[in-house]
Amino acid sequence: MLTRRQLVSGAGAVCLFGSATRAPRGRALGPEVAPVAGKIVAVELIAAERPTALACFGGAALPLWTFAEGAWPPLIRLELGDRLEATLKNQLPRADETTSIHWHGIRLPNDQDGVPYLVQRPVWPGESFRYAFAPPDAGTFFFHTHCNTVEQLGRGLEGILIIDGDVTEPYDADIVLLLRDWRIEPGTAEFASFATLRGAGRAGTYGPLRSVNGADNPRISLPASSDCRLRIINSDPTRIMRIGVEGADAVIAAIDGVAIPLMTLTTWAMGPGMRMDLVLRSPPPGGVASLVDSSAESHIELARLVGLGAPRQARAFDPAPLRAGRIPAPDLANATRIGFRLQSSAAGAAIAATETALGVAVAAICLSSRSFWSINGQSWPDRDHPRLPPPLAVLQRGRSYVFELWNDTDFSHPIHIHGHSLTFLSSDQRNLPAHHADTILLTPGERAEVAFIANNPGDWMFHCHVIEHQENGMMGYLRII
Ligand code: C2O
Ligand code: CU
Repeated sequence: MLTRRQLVSGAGAVCLFGSATRAPRGRALGPEVAPVAGKIVAVELIAAERPTALACFGGAALPLWTFAEGAWPPLIRLELGDRLEATLKNQLPRADETTSIHWHGIRLPNDQDGVPYLVQRPVWPGESFRYAFAPPDAGTFFFHTHCNTVEQLGRGLEGILIIDGDVTEPYDADIVLLLRDWRIEPGTAEFASFATLRGAGRAGTYGPLRSVNGADNPRISLPASSDCRLRIINSDPTRIMRIGVEGADAVIAAIDGVAIPLMTLTTWAMGPGMRMDLVLRSPPPGGVASLVDSSAESHIELARLVGLGAPRQARAFDPAPLRAGRIPAPDLANATRIGFRLQSSAAGAAIAATETALGVAVAAICLSSRSFWSINGQSWPDRDHPRLPPPLAVLQRGRSYVFELWNDTDFSHPIHIHGHSLTFLSSDQRNLPAHHADTILLTPGERAEVAFIANNPGDWMFHCHVIEHQENGMMGYLRII
């Protein structure tokens, strides 16, 4: 079995931040399937404060804000073709704490997209709102609040959304791993402030407590020597992870819910909001492999993957690919090009330059401006949404567009588009394979090109998914008419 180090050198990877090689015997993707009308899945999501003792909290119960009683995170599972009817009730404990649900990555009608003021009234405490849509794509998604996101998501207001229907041959296991930190100071049982001035102007404020499904480095049991699907979701408000597996062979099967031809995993950079589906040959009985984040200087083991029971697969690892996704191919020859420059404002640059966390000069800047970040020189005028700026661009419905994304800053930005999936074309810094993504990571100084057909009318958010960047200016929307 190859170690990660061997794979990296074998691939001749020069990439700083994510690389992968084509699997030697890549099998073609399965044929795509279109949804046919299925059942109605009705759920009630009650946003409320629920003291919860997640395993990673070491015995303490913290005042999480969650969408449901019981296990965290909640999971909604549909078959492709099913219609979700989700009633959101706001029972959050503050009189002015509005909320909403954004169904991240789903290509749904604009009025179901959950962005307050832009497409719906925010849901006030005591009120409810009913979302109803039939997701057009199978895959791994998640949902989260789109109001006061840094705090509400920081407190846990999110869930997993799986749409089944993309499998060509059943895997031996299908497991969701939701990765995120918690802003809890070690040794206390209280949340620290969810945003800091210093973090907001830099890479964001990290949570000291890391978790996988709410546990610190959990043992995840897998049927031994079998082909297991791992659905990895980075829902952290801030942290970019460089995900790899040590001690087991793994291939990437999908990025942001959309299948790709199987590719050997070396590491893959996952910014907030990004998903990756792996197929992994689990360890033999009693064997242990590791899910690691190698973006820090030392590797961090996020979870231990343990083989249990009798070995299932005798043949060599040659996993089945997923079915092809249904994202329409943009017409590159006739596409309109639009440039988007991600920049820091003068206030943001000053924050980034200072090494003192809360010096007087910094505090003065903070009072004068909360716009540390911008897209094409426009900063969202307010931390939340009530004052709508003009759209960043107006796009013609049905037309193909190539977006040139320029990261003019010294920090990374995972840029997320609502309601669409982008076709990745190229980067001047990273040699990434062809794939689709609703969240595109741009490393410092990177320039990337993506394309898509503007086929879904409405006003669609286009923002950095480092929530402190989003809430401090790096947010806008595209109008498709
Ligand atoms: Cu998951 Cu507007 O974001
Ligand atoms: Cu950002």
